[in-house]
Amino acid sequence: MLTEEKVIEALKKVNDPELDKSIVELGMVRDVKVENGKVSFTLALTTLACPLKDRIVADAKEAVSSLDGVKEVDVKLAEMTPEEREKLFSTVKPREGVAQRFNSIRRVIAIMSGKGGVGKSLVAALLASHLRRRGYEVGLLDADITGPSIPKIMGITNRPLPSATGIIPPASSTGIKIISIGLFLPSEDDAVIWRGPLISRAIQQFWGDVFWGNLDYLIVDLPPGTADASLTVMQSLPLNGIILVTSPQELVKIIVKKAMKMAQHLHVPIIGVVENMSYAICPDTGKKWELFGPSRAEEVARELRAPLLAQIPIDPEIARLCDQGRIEEYEVEDFARVAERIEEIVPEVQPRFFTSMADFSRGD
Ligand SMILES: Nc1ncnc2c1ncn2[C@@H]1O[C@H](COP(=O)(O)OP(=O)(O)OP(=O)(O)O)[C@@H](O)[C@H]1O
Ligand SMILES: [Mg+2]
Repeated sequence: MLTEEKVIEALKKVNDPELDKSIVELGMVRDVKVENGKVSFTLALTTLACPLKDRIVADAKEAVSSLDGVKEVDVKLAEMTPEEREKLFSTVKPREGVAQRFNSIRRVIAIMSGKGGVGKSLVAALLASHLRRRGYEVGLLDADITGPSIPKIMGITNRPLPSATGIIPPASSTGIKIISIGLFLPSEDDAVIWRGPLISRAIQQFWGDVFWGNLDYLIVDLPPGTADASLTVMQSLPLNGIILVTSPQELVKIIVKKAMKMAQHLHVPIIGVVENMSYAICPDTGKKWELFGPSRAEEVARELRAPLLAQIPIDPEIARLCDQGRIEEYEVEDFARVAERIEEIVPEVQPRFFTSMADFSRGD
């Protein structure tokens, strides 16, 4: 006679293809019911976004259908709760680099600057937000391991969750997927004091072990400066290009030299320049005020033979929204234009390779 026990026995032979363990053993099979030859049960997956869910359902159906007396099999899908997932992954480890097989990321753009505090994280967050507003699927990878600031300015407190297909990044209110070491730390004030190799390893995991799914754009926020660690690390991601963030206080010659050096090290082109803190609007007169002196952005862009993509004013609203974790709400006209033309700005091709500094400076 067909019984619930027999159904469970049959399902014990079905494995989760990624975790390589029986779906019964993994606690995925729930609410098994048998009624007049009709079998129904629920499969609780680690994530409903699992690209292999159809296969698991088909395997489970096939296993049950082969039992004597089965007329119909009804499978419902559910997602495990975060607690159930935590419990599951305390005993099983997903395969290393598993997510990479399921990720399809069309373009990867890194946000860099020669020095710290010029607004890289701000630019990364604004670019991601404006691209998202245009309807693109966007991810934001915070590669600043020792000083992560993306979770704070994007207002993310949810932790990334493990799944059979990799770590699931939490999403912002508009749906930007976000990964940062800050999301793994017990508290916001905790510091990561790691040496280069561990930092590189963390960033490689953010690329290979995070289940990004299908992304049009992955924006990478880099740590300040041109430290060897960040260069080495960036070499392991297939970058399409770099956006360089500058401020009017910097000396053109120095920025250009550093940017060229970075591009050469990374073998990727500079796709554009963004100047932050370009000007302020005087609240009384509404006049533009270049408080750090005249903009040098055009000159930098000309020297680098890259377009000047945007100029961001100094605006107390930016500081306020950053503090409140709501920077996604801020609009910059220049960025809206960049988002509109992004496909021309960043062609969907693999990075160009420069063989020498001379190649790069010719700009072709
Ligand atoms: N244009 C601006 N107007 C007002 N405040 C700004 C502006 N740009 C940056 N800020 C403020 O400065 C802070 C630092 O900027 P941000 O974190 O983007 O710099 P960074 O280059 O990423 O720094 P780091 O080198 O430490 O990574 C922001 O959180 C914001 O509060
Ligand atoms: Mg930063």
